[in-house]
Amino acid sequence: MPLRLRQPESIKIKFTYFCTLQHTSFINMANKKIGIFYGSSTGQTEKIAEKLQQLFGEDQADLINVDIASQGDLEKYPYLILGTPTWGVGEMQDDWEDFAEILEKADLKGKKIALFGLGDQDTYPDSFADGVGILFSKISEKAKIIGKWPKKGYHFHESEALRENKFVGLILDQENQPGKTAERLAKWVEILKKEFV
Ligand SMILES: Cc1cc2nc3c(=O)[nH]c(=O)nc-3n(C[C@H](O)[C@H](O)[C@H](O)COP(=O)(O)O)c2cc1C
Repeated sequence: MPLRLRQPESIKIKFTYFCTLQHTSFINMANKKIGIFYGSSTGQTEKIAEKLQQLFGEDQADLINVDIASQGDLEKYPYLILGTPTWGVGEMQDDWEDFAEILEKADLKGKKIALFGLGDQDTYPDSFADGVGILFSKISEKAKIIGKWPKKGYHFHESEALRENKFVGLILDQENQPGKTAERLAKWVEILKKEFV
């Protein structure tokens, strides 16, 4: 006669509790207001994106690498923060180049979007943080862009990220000004918190 093993009640309860937890955390994720989308080739932008998530609180913001993001991911948040470093000479980071098509197709109506980017003003003074300017031009007609940032304190010749003498988003330089990053981030997040309500 085959041996029938009965599932003990305590295991059933534990399993049900586990499923409930899984379900709850899924709901919480879907309810988060801010999606931080970033691309990063050598990890610097990723670190900044993680810092941003901490500053907003993990209960408020999700972190998504554009390498694996979909159009649906982008459309589910009312507030977006998009971050790219500049690579090549004045180009967006590679994964953003690939994601740009999705970005252009996405329905961004009614969203508030803030941009940030990393660059190296000493080595690339003629294309400083251009990637952020390219990102801006892809979405500026489709959504409200917030979080402009003063150019004071940076030393460069030209940048695509400038509009009316201000950066279109927060620009950070981990090569030459790492000591200024924490303060810049904190100030920028305070500005954004007033917009993301
Ligand atoms: C090959 C190369 C090209 C770069 N081109 C630019 C550029 O045109 N403009 C700029 O501001 N920074 C440029 N940078 C600096 C990067 O944007 C900077 O190192 C950034 O922090 C890298 O971010 P990631 O680690 O997230 O990829 C370049 C760096 C490298 C190594």
